[in-house]
Amino acid sequence: MSVKVLAVLASGSGSNLEAIAQAIVNGELKAKIAVVIYNEPDAFARQRAEKYGIPAILVNHRDYKSRKALDLAIINILEKYNVDLVIMAGWMRIVTQVLIDAFPERILNIHPSLLPSFKGIHAIEQAFNYGVKVTGCTVHLLSLEVDSGKILKQAAVPVLPEDTLEDLQKRIQVQEHIIYPEAIAEYSH
Ligand code: GAR
Repeated sequence: MSVKVLAVLASGSGSNLEAIAQAIVNGELKAKIAVVIYNEPDAFARQRAEKYGIPAILVNHRDYKSRKALDLAIINILEKYNVDLVIMAGWMRIVTQVLIDAFPERILNIHPSLLPSFKGIHAIEQAFNYGVKVTGCTVHLLSLEVDSGKILKQAAVPVLPEDTLEDLQKRIQVQEHIIYPEAIAEYSH
């Protein structure tokens, strides 16, 4: 099987980025992360990329006049690095059709709920406040409508009676770090 060339887009901590990078190091995922793109100057994802020797490029959305202009700048980088798959890992920007058209069925996203429940921001909090007893995480293809693309993989996570929001968040992230590298390994387009 050929090695998949990935780009990871992250806005924050980058723990999913690290899980994917580590799965590659461990030989569980035959891929290479060619580049990390981050949009928040102080995103910890940048440090994680450095730890794995991956180039990290800041594309600060504040420097662009529109979502489309931001996406065009991102496409420029993705094409330069000959990326096969775009991996959104905590990328907190709404994308435009321009990016989707540039990488049709080649953009994956992870969302911290069992989609189609609890789309959008603060998904874990939404589920927690709703009082569900089971939630989880979902890897899906990106589509223009937020958190609505084809589902590739899911993991269910119980909500325990004594859980705080932070407990639940941690339990979901453990599963994210397992299913995201697996979903990338299994995905062929
Ligand atoms: C992850 O839990 C991911 O599911 C979530 O952001 C977190 C990023 O964590 N994404 C969304 O909420 C997208 N709507 P990380 O930066 O440590 O990988």
